[in-house]
Formats: sequence, C-alpha cells, structure tokens
Amino acid sequence: MEKPFRRRDLLGIRDLTADQIVGILDTAENFSEISTREVKKVPALRGKTVINLFFEASTRTRTSFELAAKRLSADAVNISVSSSSVSKGETLIDTAMNLDAMAPDCIVVRHASAGVPHQLAKVSRAAIVNAGDGANEHPTQALLDAMTIREHKKQIDGLEVAIIGDILHSRVARSNIHLLTKLGAKIRVAGPGTLVPNDFQYLIESGVTSENTQSAISNPQLEVCPSVEDAIAGADVVMILRIQRERQDSAYFPTLREYSVHYGLTNDRLDMAKKDAIVLHPGPMNRGIEIASEVADSSRSLILDQVKYGVAVRMAVLYLATGGSPTNG
Ligand code: CP
Repeated sequence: MEKPFRRRDLLGIRDLTADQIVGILDTAENFSEISTREVKKVPALRGKTVINLFFEASTRTRTSFELAAKRLSADAVNISVSSSSVSKGETLIDTAMNLDAMAPDCIVVRHASAGVPHQLAKVSRAAIVNAGDGANEHPTQALLDAMTIREHKKQIDGLEVAIIGDILHSRVARSNIHLLTKLGAKIRVAGPGTLVPNDFQYLIESGVTSENTQSAISNPQLEVCPSVEDAIAGADVVMILRIQRERQDSAYFPTLREYSVHYGLTNDRLDMAKKDAIVLHPGPMNRGIEIASEVADSSRSLILDQVKYGVAVRMAVLYLATGGSPTNG
C-alpha cells in the first residue's frame, strides 16, 4: 500500500543504528523539561492524532504514551481489547484498517503476540509504534532505561550491566540487549537455567535474524553467567526482571519462594556490585520475589526515575514517528 505521508515506525531496537538511538535519547532529553513546567504543554503535535491500541494490560506504558501525546498537544484516543470490536470477532488487521481509515498519525500498539506491530505496519498509513509485542521487543522501555542510565552514569559505553531473571520471556531484556550492546555496554545475564538461554539462539528462532542481532549473539559484550552473584559482581547497573507468569507455559522453577531465595535482589547481593551501582526494574514489580523492598525503596533504586523518563522518551518517539527531526542533546 502507498504511504502518502511521511512517517517512521518504531517496531524494535534491533532495526535502529546507534546514531538513531542517540538521536531519540537526545530528543527525549530536550522534551524532559516540559514535564517540570507548571503548564505541561507545547504545540509540537497540534493537529496530530495518536491512537493507543492496547490488547494487554498496562499501567506505565499506556499512561505515559497518553500523557506524552497530550503534553505535545496531540489528540490521544485509548482503545483496549474489552472496548474494541476484536471482542466481537473482528480480526486484528480489520481493526487496524478501520482505525487507519480515520486518519490517525500514529498508532501505538501492545499485543501478546510477537510481530503484531510489524503486521500492522504493512497495512497502516499511520506510523506504528511497538508498545510491547509478546516476548519480542519493548523498544520504548529500553529507550527509557537507557535514558535513566545516561542521566545517572553520563554515558553507556563501557558500562557493565547485569540483567537478572526471566530472560527467556522478557521483551524488556531483548530490547535492552540490542540497545545497550549497540551503545557499547557489556551485558551479563543470569537466572534459573530454564529461563536463561545459553546461546541466545532464541533471538534467531523468534525470527529476529538481522545482521545486528547476529553480531550481538557472537558478541563478547554479552555473557551468560552461572549465578546471579557472578552477574552482579562489579556491575554498574543491575536490571531486575519480573517473572513473566503470563508467558510461561510450564513450571520453570519449583516455587516463588525458592526463586526469591536463589535469584531475588537483596542488599547483600547488591553489595557485590560497584558502590555506585544503580538498580532498574521495568515494573510492575513483585516485591519480595524478584526484588526485596529494602532494595526497591533504597536510594540505589531508580525505578520511579525510569517511569519519569518514560514520558520524555515517548514524547520523543511520537514526535519523531510523526515527522519531527531529532534534536541535539
Ligand atoms: N514496563 C511496562 O511495560 O509496564 P506496564 O506493563 O505497566 O506498561
């Protein structure tokens, strides 16, 4: 289908170059000041329409996309699966084409199946932004994580990042592995053997076969560690993942209590990281399972900063997706 107006999809981090990622982060940095104003609104997207099409639950992503659109003066419409005609049997593609007929400039989509945003991008004239597709990618989460790291560590190149937990089912881990390795960080992953792929072959099996990913798989920047302690030792950033019970089709570990004992982030484990290490968690977090409250509520935890930067990142993504040009930081 002809695409008659300028648009840029954001389907995943794997499609982006390091320069493009930095361009989004710089643009987000410039937009972040708007949320500190008394009147949190600029006219950058006046006259544009953004549809949030969420087929999975969300607190942070959906709210921040809506706020981002409104702070840029776009009209924002939210559609959830229970209020859409998908619940009456309409196909996803028909839903997308009907929404597209109303001439939105951007459709933000979250779906439990990997590849849905890519399918919509083929039929839609509006820019498609991936807000999380199954276990594939969650690009704006990785961007807001990178913005949080950059704000606190000044640069990403050369940092050691531990990613702990359910790597196998995590679109957050996947997008972060793409992004952080492209920007020069070293990543160590750890968790239950059943939830940490040894060779990252899963990135290929899931259809992610770009040259960039191939290089990430054989990349010395990415290491699978035998224990959580090995991954955390000396890390600058400790990223904890939620147990994705909604995507687990069998018992990957005996009990939540055992998971917490062997893999949960406690102060004792965090003390093995660098003294100034920061802790990230994409949310929603399961206190007392993958992260102890003593860590989640400590000064080393930047979990609410991640949420704050999420608005700025999504402002930048909507602005760029609908034709804006990146700004320098
Ligand atoms: N991190 C994240 O995607 O949170 P939500 O599921 O609340 O959007």
